[in-house]
Amino acid sequence: MAYTTVLTETRGRVGIVQLNRPQAMNAFNIAMLGEVFDAMEAFDRDDNIGVIMVTGNEKAFAAGADIKEMVDATAFQMIIENRVDTWDRIRGIKKPVIAAVSGWALGGGCEFVLSCDMVIASESAKFGQPEITLGVIPGAGGTQRLARLLGKNLTMEMVINNRTLTAAEAQQFGLVNRIVPIEGYLDAAVAFAEEIASRAPLAVRMAKDAVNAAFETTLTEGLKAEKRNFYLLFSTEDQTEGMQAFIEKRKPNWKGK
Ligand code: HXC
Repeated sequence: MAYTTVLTETRGRVGIVQLNRPQAMNAFNIAMLGEVFDAMEAFDRDDNIGVIMVTGNEKAFAAGADIKEMVDATAFQMIIENRVDTWDRIRGIKKPVIAAVSGWALGGGCEFVLSCDMVIASESAKFGQPEITLGVIPGAGGTQRLARLLGKNLTMEMVINNRTLTAAEAQQFGLVNRIVPIEGYLDAAVAFAEEIASRAPLAVRMAKDAVNAAFETTLTEGLKAEKRNFYLLFSTEDQTEGMQAFIEKRKPNWKGK
């Protein structure tokens, strides 16, 4: 597949999608938004891939939606072009999605990161929702996902007063899993992803599904979802293999079946 706004690469079982509009700080125009999800969905279908990683460049993960593309838009153009709904395609990805963030993750860029499952940040990463400075508000989940992660008051400050978070603050508040040096940040993120990609694929998939249920439903329904996924894994060869390998004191050989 030939993309014009993203680059793709495979390292072992990690499929990497790199946002590639450096001239615009990787701002998401409609083309890049479509291509990033096309590339992610292709990796999601590929049995040789265990984890999907999305990254930008050292200076910017992404500086948000493309302001130049939106400046003259009307409300109905936004609706007809389905601009907000497109961002939701990330929710359909079944494999773990890891963001490797360096530099700016602003607006839609920050919201994209919030939609990922785990985040590795370089020391220079900065997260913010500056839409208020443009006379609008976040539209791709920022108000909701930040509120769930950070609580109300800090979210209000970020969304209403453009407060940005440093990498260290973002880690403190649970938005970032690990902070790594800028130099080699992508290699460090890939090493983190490779470990996850080496785990039992169906269990990983069920684990992601169960954790996500916690954000969608009541505790009782969430516990039911977890229990269903737990029982379901006893229909896999990997469950037998994993437990046998433990008893035989050897490494399991996962089949993804
Ligand atoms: C279009 C952008 C852009 C953006 C940067 N550029 N961000 N173009 N949309 N979001 C362009 C600049 O216009 C400039 O192009 C080039 O990238 C380099 O940017 P500079 O501003 O010169 O770089 P710097 O001084 O280093 O500042 C970096 C920055 C700043 C802090 C990231 O660019 C910035 O504040 N960008 C806007 C961030 C923002 O407001 N994001 C929210 C967007 S709304 P030229 O051609 O001038 O050299 C949003 C809503 C999501 O995301 C809703 C989803 C449904």
